[in-house]
Amino acid sequence: MSIFHRFSLAGRIALVTGGGRGLGFEMAQALADAGAHVIVNGRTAATLDTAVEAIRTRDGSAEAAAFDIGDREAQRAAMADIEKNHGRLDILINNVGARDRRPLADFDDEAILALLNTDLAASIMLSRDAARLMKRHNHGRLISVTSISGQVVMPGDCVYPAAKQGLTGLMRGMAVEFGPHGITSNAIAPGWFATETNAAMAANEELIPFVRQRIPVQRWGRPDEIAGAALFLASDAASFVNGHVLTIDGGMTVRM
Ligand SMILES: NC(=O)c1ccc[n+]([C@@H]2O[C@H](COP(=O)([O-])OP(=O)(O)OC[C@H]3O[C@@H](n4cnc5c(N)ncnc54)[C@H](OP(=O)(O)O)[C@@H]3O)[C@@H](O)[C@H]2O)c1
Repeated sequence: MSIFHRFSLAGRIALVTGGGRGLGFEMAQALADAGAHVIVNGRTAATLDTAVEAIRTRDGSAEAAAFDIGDREAQRAAMADIEKNHGRLDILINNVGARDRRPLADFDDEAILALLNTDLAASIMLSRDAARLMKRHNHGRLISVTSISGQVVMPGDCVYPAAKQGLTGLMRGMAVEFGPHGITSNAIAPGWFATETNAAMAANEELIPFVRQRIPVQRWGRPDEIAGAALFLASDAASFVNGHVLTIDGGMTVRM
């Protein structure tokens, strides 16, 4: 059997949180290109409709699921819908990650808890509920989008890296706990990608020397450069890859 066959996701059901734009959209599109039916999550219905339309234009299969992943009731309802409509969930990509960069002294308790809820707790709960569905078929792929933040940190950034490193811990714990059930758990740690959210930074000419010096490939990542990693980890080609962090940063974190 050709190795390419092992990258097929035909018959798989996938949920990508924050899949309406940015890296989430690129990963959702890649899974759909490989044959999965993709449930694209986000809070803005219009953005999701555009994403679903783009996937369908490439002959992919997708639907929108508009909910805030930080809203536990909405999350429960969405998982219940997936169970009712599809009877299974094979792939979960925990991609949502809100950014709130400022000195720790400027955070009040509510802001800390809000960021940890969106960037960590919501993914813990969603993963737990997804694994329950995955166990039924003795198959699953849990993929968490973390960050190089935590390995290396920008000044004035404590809570976001704490959440992302928490997500790495979650990923490792799930790899051990769910491995016996045919469910793998891995992480993708992006470096600097020129998504919409980073548009101002990516256009900042003052950062060009920094990018040339610190990123060995000397440029920002294109959002579509995340897609191959997501497809690999979601597919049978990665059936023995469990508990791994796949860093995609153009070499930024290995440069001395
Ligand atoms: N881009 C980078 O350079 C980079 C670097 C390191 C790590 N990352 C990580 O990669 C992931 C994606 O980054 P990105 O730059 O592509 O992000 P992005 O452009 O900010 O996109 C985030 C997506 O998530 C959705 N979203 C945000 N909060 C949500 C919530 N509470 N519930 C449901 N959906 C929500 C947004 O749609 P709505 O606003 O419509 O809800 C949007 O579609 C994040 O976890 C980020 O931390 C990115």
